[in-house]
Amino acid sequence: MTAEAITNPDSGVEIVYSDEEIARRLEELALEIKSSGLKNLLVVAVLKGSFVFAADLIRALHRVGVAPEVDFLTLSSYKKSKTSSGRVEILRDLDLGVEGRNVLIVDDVLDSGRTLAFAKDLLTARGAALIRTCVLLEKQVPRAVDVEADFAAFECPDEFVVGYGMDVAHRYRELPFVGRITKH
Ligand code: IMP
Ligand code: MG
Repeated sequence: MTAEAITNPDSGVEIVYSDEEIARRLEELALEIKSSGLKNLLVVAVLKGSFVFAADLIRALHRVGVAPEVDFLTLSSYKKSKTSSGRVEILRDLDLGVEGRNVLIVDDVLDSGRTLAFAKDLLTARGAALIRTCVLLEKQVPRAVDVEADFAAFECPDEFVVGYGMDVAHRYRELPFVGRITKH
């Protein structure tokens, strides 16, 4: 199915950032990350929402000559609902130790900030040497906790978005673009 077909008025999803826009922005983001000079980088992708973003970002990093190690941390705060429960849990931990490492935490959306703050605190407590954070979308809302992203691909309107790895109740992750739900 084409993007046009997916985004026809009956499908209920409208494009916010197209796959072309995302691809272009990721090349710039990879250069920004490279320029920050992080050596022996460990990318920690926060699952599940960041899996598509992280997969594209590490390949963009490769194209600019950065060869990170990659690990995954599965966190949950949203369950099936669209609003944060306010509590973040580890559903699956990293395989690698982070002591003394330069870590880039990669997540899909920075919203209340609780998820990113939780991940940062966790890796700090485990002795990471340096932690930087990178998100696909930065929601333009006040944070519940004091955390900002060092790198962000796009601003995000204060509405629930799906696609490009992001879901509502496990749906829409396969969409190649970031979209908003227009119909339920
Ligand atoms: P925070 O902890 O409130 O900053 O929320 C961040 C987490 O909530 C992200 O890792 C996302 O998985 C999820 N999230 C927040 N807003 C959205 C959204 O609009 N669409 C999909 N997931 C979202
Ligand atoms: Mg997430």
